[in-house]
Amino acid sequence: MPVSAALLKTVPLFATLPDEQLRALLPSVARRSAPRGALVIAAGAPTDSLYIVVTGRLKVMMSDADGKEVILAILGPGEFFGEMGLIDDHPRSASVVAMEPCELLALSARDFRRALAENFDMAMAVMKGLVRRLREADRKISSLALLDVYGRVARLLLDMAEEVDGQKVVTRRLPKQDIAKMVGASREMVSRVMKDLQAGGYIEMRGATIVLRDTIARAE
Ligand code: CMP
Repeated sequence: MPVSAALLKTVPLFATLPDEQLRALLPSVARRSAPRGALVIAAGAPTDSLYIVVTGRLKVMMSDADGKEVILAILGPGEFFGEMGLIDDHPRSASVVAMEPCELLALSARDFRRALAENFDMAMAVMKGLVRRLREADRKISSLALLDVYGRVARLLLDMAEEVDGQKVVTRRLPKQDIAKMVGASREMVSRVMKDLQAGGYIEMRGATIVLRDTIARAE
């Protein structure tokens, strides 16, 4: 399906572009589908495109030579990735893998740079995205340095929760293995912590949904 101006308008990164610039950008934007598990960006690879998530979720991860992995972030609709290599001309800093079937938009390096040069608001949107990531990374560093695994899991659940009918809930499927890779603990340890949080009344499992009780802030 071709990319429409209406679709581009729904993307926060392009939201401030005047219609004329948006239309000029249309031929440079390509649709990409990524099945679950697809490696969209490989760490260390040369940089070619910027990606925007239309639907689906992807994980940003790094691994060591033994295959041990850490998940730096989970990205969802409206978010962009692949901008770092385009900005500083370095190879990809991390790998990005589809957690579920994803629809993406891809913009070439040349067109991304041209759009940035022509539109200050878009440059600001990219900078705001980078600042948000730095804030999140700072928060993660402080979690790793200052909290034990209980606190790190509690904080992650709070960060991922959304408000539904006055309750904080984590509705998106989050395998324990992924939680482990996000908080820097083993899967077994995360299972134990989740069981203890449940037994202590901090969280309640309803199928795949995790309901957070107000007391969980104390476990942080
Ligand atoms: P790039 O380095 O080109 O390729 C990997 C991408 O992962 C990177 O650009 C960012 O878009 C994204 N990325 C890297 N680190 C983080 C992070 N801590 N949080 C969110 N996204 C990240």
